[in-house]
Amino acid sequence: MVNREISRPVLQSGRPAIGYWQSPGRVNLIGEYTDYNLGFVLPFAIDRRVFVAVAKSNEPGVTIRSERKNSVVSRKYSSLRRNEPVTWASYVLGVIWAFHQSGISLPGLEVSLDSDIPPGAGLSSSAAIEAAVAVAINDITSTGLSRLHLAKLCHVAETEYVGIPVGIMDQMAVVNGRSRHAMLIDCRDESVVQVPLNVEQIMVIDTRVRHSNKDGRYAQKRERCAWAVSQLGVSSLREANLTMVDDALEGESRRIARHVVTENDRVLETVNRLSNGESIGDLLVSSHRSLQYDFDVSCQELDCIVDVAMANGADGARMFGAGLGGCAIMIADDPPRIVTLVEKEFYRHGYRPPRSFGVIASDGAGAV
Ligand code: GLA
Repeated sequence: MVNREISRPVLQSGRPAIGYWQSPGRVNLIGEYTDYNLGFVLPFAIDRRVFVAVAKSNEPGVTIRSERKNSVVSRKYSSLRRNEPVTWASYVLGVIWAFHQSGISLPGLEVSLDSDIPPGAGLSSSAAIEAAVAVAINDITSTGLSRLHLAKLCHVAETEYVGIPVGIMDQMAVVNGRSRHAMLIDCRDESVVQVPLNVEQIMVIDTRVRHSNKDGRYAQKRERCAWAVSQLGVSSLREANLTMVDDALEGESRRIARHVVTENDRVLETVNRLSNGESIGDLLVSSHRSLQYDFDVSCQELDCIVDVAMANGADGARMFGAGLGGCAIMIADDPPRIVTLVEKEFYRHGYRPPRSFGVIASDGAGAV
């Protein structure tokens, strides 16, 4: 944990902030690579956050300071262009750009950020920056955008300004989070149903293997899904079933489509089990195996976590997020014992030591 006061970042000019806002990161309980296939996801917002302090300025632009990076960026609004080289400031600039694109003019701004979400770990630290800035601007300008509109605006910032073709899950999750609930999001009609999450604490185990969605692999998977859609003659993989997939596709396309179709079923079954107070562990493991063998986005460190957890009595474990590194979640009666065994196995294989911490389902973005 950070040992400084992260909830009150200091502005570069030293002037007092007019307010403080925050957004959580997210963990996805289940429903991976289903969002841009217009299926179901079941994420929850976590008790790790990005905080922003904001002041108005007289310049027609923004000065952004990152406490964690100890770095400052100043930009005139008129200079913002899509697809600029991606830096830590891009997620703030993207939201400002997206507000301008929707015809909302902004006063000059000064923004300072701080965070205790490990960056690049698949916990949506970028969506959290976007959402914290978006709710701040929404309040300051009294624009009154709805939660859905804010999530979509952040999604435009990420896909059109930053230029990464992600689905809507992360932005919806960090904006709509509710304490002690996961969210069943239908990515076709964009509805959100809050599902009570009565699992005491969920462990996150970070492999510390880093992979960026900017490197083209994420976009390539998305193209493969689009190709499968065209071969099946449906409007999205949400419309497909296993018989159609097995009849019409083969090789990699069949495996990719099979993951998406089965994952949608697992999300709905998870919601059923949670409402009946039943274990969801085996569904988490099936999701992981499907991502490992069919969608092919796991890695040896993530597989090691799941293998060790399941060989030692965990209820369930799976990778989450885009994969190829990042984190796994684990549900177990005695997490510290299993984490120690995972650490030993990582050491034996010569992997970097993992980091682990518990997370609690928390509220979404808003004023502090
Ligand atoms: C990343 C993206 C999400 C989603 C997941 C995979 O986190 O940002 O939109 O596609 O990968 O489920």
